[in-house]
Amino acid sequence: MKVTVVGAGAVGASCAEYIAIKDFASEVVILDIKEGFAEGKAMDLMQTASLNGFDTKITGSTSDYSKTANSDVCVITSGIPRKPGMTREELIGINAGIVKSVSTSLIEHSPNTIIIVVSNPMDTMTYLVHKTTDLPKNRIIGMGGALDSARFKYRLAEALGAPISDVDGMVIGGHSDKGMVPLIGKAVRNSVSVSEFLSEKRMDQVVQDTKVGGATLTGLLGTSAWYAPGAAVSAMVQAIACDTKKIFPCSALLAGEFGLSDLSIGVPCVLGANGIEKIVEISLSDAEKTKLTESAEGVKKTNGLLEF
Ligand code: LAC
Repeated sequence: MKVTVVGAGAVGASCAEYIAIKDFASEVVILDIKEGFAEGKAMDLMQTASLNGFDTKITGSTSDYSKTANSDVCVITSGIPRKPGMTREELIGINAGIVKSVSTSLIEHSPNTIIIVVSNPMDTMTYLVHKTTDLPKNRIIGMGGALDSARFKYRLAEALGAPISDVDGMVIGGHSDKGMVPLIGKAVRNSVSVSEFLSEKRMDQVVQDTKVGGATLTGLLGTSAWYAPGAAVSAMVQAIACDTKKIFPCSALLAGEFGLSDLSIGVPCVLGANGIEKIVEISLSDAEKTKLTESAEGVKKTNGLLEF
């Protein structure tokens, strides 16, 4: 398993680190346009190998895409991150050009790769890769729901006073403050609905805190978060590398599923060796359906700003 991570910023570096620490990939290549930066990050990470106990070989390069040849999975984190007060949508102008050229260069050297898009606005960037490359749709996946669901579980555990391992929950919809749809009605503590433990008001608070999870961190850190985004990508790469068939909410190109089409948005997907192996059309309540449809309208509006 060879993995390329484009962008050696905080998210890309965390992603490479988590992939290496889990030791399921033979090789991770990091690319970054900043001269020497990816090489430095790769070398620094390699010097943790004997300490952290992994054999994954990590290398870095500035712009030599030939080094990425025959990657099984390529992760695109490049582009500018948001600053406090910015929405993910405001990044579209700069990031669209970067994501388009990066994905084209990656596919030139790895025509059968699976691409995971992290750059924001993520659902629109994922749609852009679908529209501008010939990769089959199961091989282009947006990372958002895995991260948003991890933040949801964090907030659920906090509200419940429970260990995180005791809670489960999923966030579908667009990866934006307004567009996320945390499925609170389906969230459980050890198979028992969280509504048995939490008041309506507390559940609303969990949903609200989840939706602004990224913005809260941007306010605290002065830039976009990286540990949880990196961990979310590495969990998805692991599911593909190890063909686990686990369900992750991912930004997938829809063609009628959930009554939606011609957009990429977060829905439950089975991930395995072929990328998105199945979109799982779970049943949604009328309120959940309405929220997903509204979220889709928001994503489509942002997609409308793309110039192909
Ligand atoms: C976040 C970025 C990765 O939500 O969108 O932290």
